[in-house]
Amino acid sequence: MSGKILVTGGTGYIGSHTTLLLLEAGYQVVVVDNLSNSSLESLRRVEKLTGKSVTFYKADIRDSDKLSIIFQEHQIEGVIHFAGLKAVGESTQIPLEYYEQNVYGTLSLLKVMQRFSCFNIVFSSSATVYGDPASVPITEDFPTSATNPYGRSKLYIEEILRDLSLSNEQWHIILLRYFNPIGAHESGQIGEDPQGIPNNLMPYISQVAVGKREKLSIFGNDYSTVDGTGVRDYIHVMDLSDAHVKAIEKIKQLEGVSTFNLGTGNGYSVLQMVKAFEEGANKPVAYEIVARRPGDIAECWADPGLADKVLNWRATRGLNEMVADTWRWQSRNPNGYDI
Ligand code: NAD
Ligand code: WQD
Repeated sequence: MSGKILVTGGTGYIGSHTTLLLLEAGYQVVVVDNLSNSSLESLRRVEKLTGKSVTFYKADIRDSDKLSIIFQEHQIEGVIHFAGLKAVGESTQIPLEYYEQNVYGTLSLLKVMQRFSCFNIVFSSSATVYGDPASVPITEDFPTSATNPYGRSKLYIEEILRDLSLSNEQWHIILLRYFNPIGAHESGQIGEDPQGIPNNLMPYISQVAVGKREKLSIFGNDYSTVDGTGVRDYIHVMDLSDAHVKAIEKIKQLEGVSTFNLGTGNGYSVLQMVKAFEEGANKPVAYEIVARRPGDIAECWADPGLADKVLNWRATRGLNEMVADTWRWQSRNPNGYDI
């Protein structure tokens, strides 16, 4: 594909890194984001790092009139759809908001795409759609389930996209199921900037290391894993972003809906992550063991073989690089983009 790419949610964590790689690969990029969980500063830095410019629209994907204007003003050939809400705990408190922004937001986007005959979409799905897997590693044909509204919104969207594909063979749809994205661009200029108290492990660890939080709470050490703490497949955000560029390159050759796991195939426990961070950042990370977090599973890692085979993509960055890049970003931007 050589035309313009629309990136929804492109000022966010994964969207900004993917936008950077798309620009470096020579694509023209249009970003739409309502800035509900991000800052425009991320795109300014992407532009500085690449020496290229991005067209930005502050708009909500639920606003189909505004989306139509974007499609009128630009010949969009493909869409990478990141925009949405992503906090699992919050989704149990305000489920309607999650269904509206994620499911309805996606419907609004798809209708506009259809109206403008843009039939290529890469969608951000999640390993959460595997629920509590019967075994590891997880392949794409494992059964899916959801235990919270966030995960269910991802499953619904996957199903909607399958129905859409069956209705019209012009659609080319790629579902990317991310495992646990961490890390930052190697420059330390862009990275993850969670609002308030981080929900996820890595930003929490790095905020303890930088002195913003007192100690990490480790949610349970009585799982049946290597050391009793939860095991996950952490993947460098630059590897993850690279998979989106590969997906866009290949999308027109893939018929219907294609689904890929994006992970490394390796699992690390919470305690292993703490240790790796202490070593990599040379900072102590205080922690205490507390009760399990409701809804958590013991272990989860990907079989990433299909993405390797079909997209010619594999993760190349190991844990040390993930830690070093997270720390470079965190230590140089202790308040994130809020400079
Ligand atoms: P993020 O919050 O940093 O990025 C999402 C972006 O979408 C934000 O910039 C936000 O302002 C924007 N947005 C939200 N609702 C919008 C709306 N209605 N209209 C326009 N813009 C809107 O999150 P991220 O970590 O970059 O995640 C990107 C995508 O990947 C999400 O769909 C998320 O569910 C999915 N995902 C993330 C992870 C993860 O751990 N980070 C894992 C699996 C899947
Ligand atoms: C990792 C491990 C925790 C925080 C979530 C979503 C998933 C996807 C990625 C979007 C677990 C433990 C964590 C803390 C801890 N997001 N932990 N103390 O739960 O694997 O996945 O983010 O799609 O859908 O569910 O990631 O980073 O929250 O937790 O001990 O303060 O760290 O129990 O074992 P998770 P996480």
